[in-house]
Amino acid sequence: MTKPLNVAMIGYGFMGKAHSNAYRKVAQFFPELEYRPTLKCLCARNEEKARPFAETWGYESIESDWRRLIERDDIDLIDIGSPNDTHKDIAIAAAEAGKWVVCEKPIAMSSEEAEAMTLAVEKAGVPNMVWFNYRRVPAISLAKQLVDEERIGRPFHYRATYLQDWTIAEDVPQGGQTLWRLDVNVAGSGVTGDLLAHSIDTAMWLNGPIVKVTADTETFIKERVHQETGKKQPVGIDDACMFLARFSNGSMGTFESTRYARGRKNYNTFELNGADGSVHFDLEDPQYLDFFEHTQKQSGKKVEDHLTGWRRIHVTNFEHPYMDKWWVPGCTVGYEHTFIHALADFLQGVTSGTGTQPDFRNAWQTQKVCDKVLESAKTGKWVETGVEM
Ligand SMILES: NC(=O)c1ccc[n+]([C@@H]2O[C@H](COP(=O)([O-])OP(=O)(O)OC[C@H]3O[C@@H](n4cnc5c(N)ncnc54)[C@H](O)[C@@H]3O)[C@@H](O)[C@H]2O)c1
Repeated sequence: MTKPLNVAMIGYGFMGKAHSNAYRKVAQFFPELEYRPTLKCLCARNEEKARPFAETWGYESIESDWRRLIERDDIDLIDIGSPNDTHKDIAIAAAEAGKWVVCEKPIAMSSEEAEAMTLAVEKAGVPNMVWFNYRRVPAISLAKQLVDEERIGRPFHYRATYLQDWTIAEDVPQGGQTLWRLDVNVAGSGVTGDLLAHSIDTAMWLNGPIVKVTADTETFIKERVHQETGKKQPVGIDDACMFLARFSNGSMGTFESTRYARGRKNYNTFELNGADGSVHFDLEDPQYLDFFEHTQKQSGKKVEDHLTGWRRIHVTNFEHPYMDKWWVPGCTVGYEHTFIHALADFLQGVTSGTGTQPDFRNAWQTQKVCDKVLESAKTGKWVETGVEM
């Protein structure tokens, strides 16, 4: 027996589109799911501007104030796809009203906000998730499977980069409808919350808690015109961030992120090196996972050393994570599918009662690392993260 699930989507930008697509497709490709999402309401501050989007995607209604959504009895799930400074108030109010809450990353502007949000959803006992969608790239899920199968062995190094190049021009303004990411009062931070939050989430999923960090940040362009005031104002975000990390399992991590790497558009990579093997992933080549398996010489067993090397796995077989839901082996899936996978896992977790990761509590741990990275960049010292083990 299927059950309807009335969804209210807040925001109709980049993530509004990615999530709307996921709600529309999830039951078609994961027909075993109990819940059937209905696009009940789109929420955006300007109803007229939101109308074409609502019509394109088939939303049944529009609200211009998220508080109205919370009051409505015909809404089951609130999806927060608006800028970072809106997440906390909406999530807490939604949880207190007994709604399910799914929220975009970074979960909040600070660890304190993330804690309050976590306590609110836990007190209300409502299903919750943060959209760290990269976990649901089939190749990254396969990397997690290889770690869980103990094919990497004792981990030594984790290396992540997340590089873009879209803010190099000095005349890119900050703030306003489209450039809120450059306004620290709306975004909370720069590349640390926007990009490294993804890298940290993936890293801790694959390699366990990060216990301490030391960081450096740079703001290359110190002043930009603010779109709302029209005046040149100081830039408060980190344009670039690099940090060293120690994981609880004893391994060492390096993380680098910038929006000033000319030619890099969404270069999100990681490599994990262990005693028995390594995995490497690059989001600009997302169908592949590179895997190196170290073969021990054992007496009586022939080891073909001349065949040793990196294996490039085209992650499109039915046996690979999520891929039995899509096409035949060799046919690829893309960025939008990661949101469908995340939603399917979330709905499945509600039905089974096990929940799904990353939930708010888990995303709060990532937020702690982000905050401590920024703190260390100011003090120049190693800082303990306080991440739950
Ligand atoms: N998971 C990912 O890979 C990923 C990618 C991009 C963005 N994000 C996150 O998603 C969130 C939104 O980012 P985006 O790129 O979609 O931004 P966007 O600027 O494209 O869209 C933001 C939307 O929120 C609406 N909005 C702003 N304030 C609002 C309010 N008070 N009430 C209702 N609606 C409001 C805007 O009108 C707009 O429709 C951010 O938290 C961002 O960090 C995550």
